[in-house]
Amino acid sequence: MDLGQSRRGVDMGPSAIRYAGVVERLEKLDYEIHDKGDIEIGRPGKEEEVSEGNLKYLKAVSKASEELASAVNKVIESNSFPLIFGGDHSIAIGTLAGVSKHYKNLGVIWYDAHGDLNTSETSPSGNIHGMPLAVSIGVGHSALTNIADYTPKVKPENIVIIGARSLDEGEKELIREKGIKVYTMHEIDRLGMTKVMEESVAYLKDKTDGVHLSLDLDGLDPGDAPGVGTPVLGGISYRESHLAMEILEESKLITSAEFVEVNPILDERNKTATVAVALMGSLFGEKLL
Ligand code: ARG
Ligand code: MN
Ligand code: MN
Repeated sequence: MDLGQSRRGVDMGPSAIRYAGVVERLEKLDYEIHDKGDIEIGRPGKEEEVSEGNLKYLKAVSKASEELASAVNKVIESNSFPLIFGGDHSIAIGTLAGVSKHYKNLGVIWYDAHGDLNTSETSPSGNIHGMPLAVSIGVGHSALTNIADYTPKVKPENIVIIGARSLDEGEKELIREKGIKVYTMHEIDRLGMTKVMEESVAYLKDKTDGVHLSLDLDGLDPGDAPGVGTPVLGGISYRESHLAMEILEESKLITSAEFVEVNPILDERNKTATVAVALMGSLFGEKLL
């Protein structure tokens, strides 16, 4: 999927991640992997770009979200762990729609430079990849909030955002209004990643019955993850990110995950996909020794 934002190429993210050896890497950790292949998105014409108000490619994103939701739902029904690759972050709308109906109180860790809490009213861009977290708490256009015929998918108090450093005014308001927990880069610098992750785990542990990790590669510093469409300086380092994944693995909290915004056209020799796969290694239990 690359229709949730304006820079083409992020639809090739899953290919780049496969090329970086994700299947082999996870098989080495003794997982049985079933690659379910890509969800066909198609390529809508230019005239479909603005479908409704300020929402670019609303119909196409909505349709893809329904398909992803049902694919993810099937994976959970077959008692497997759903691991989803993007694609731009609009895919989280479909992922969470497929995941959340299996939980009473799904938690979400949103690892991202951005809040992705915009609506058509507050979005500066009209890009739906800046909206999936708002959509998932039930705020936004009904063609997005009602995927899989229920809303909301997540309660605001079950969300932790980690790595934020670029928030639009409307997003800041929504964060305050809904009381969403956010660790900005300031807190990561100040407390250190260990404390941030330990606090996040403690915050979610008792009140949730499953936790989804939505990891946008632009949460990392663009020096470590250059192949992203909306890079923001001053991000989380590669080492801090491994540490974060290792603490999540130890917590045994994570029940589904997605890695998004890998754009091989903007990348340097597949570095960002390689980083994504390395982080998956840590999330799934790889040890240095
Ligand atoms: N806040 C900006 C917007 O709404 C950027 C969003 C970036 N989102 C992302 N998933 N990379 O357009
Ligand atoms: Mn982002
Ligand atoms: Mn994002």
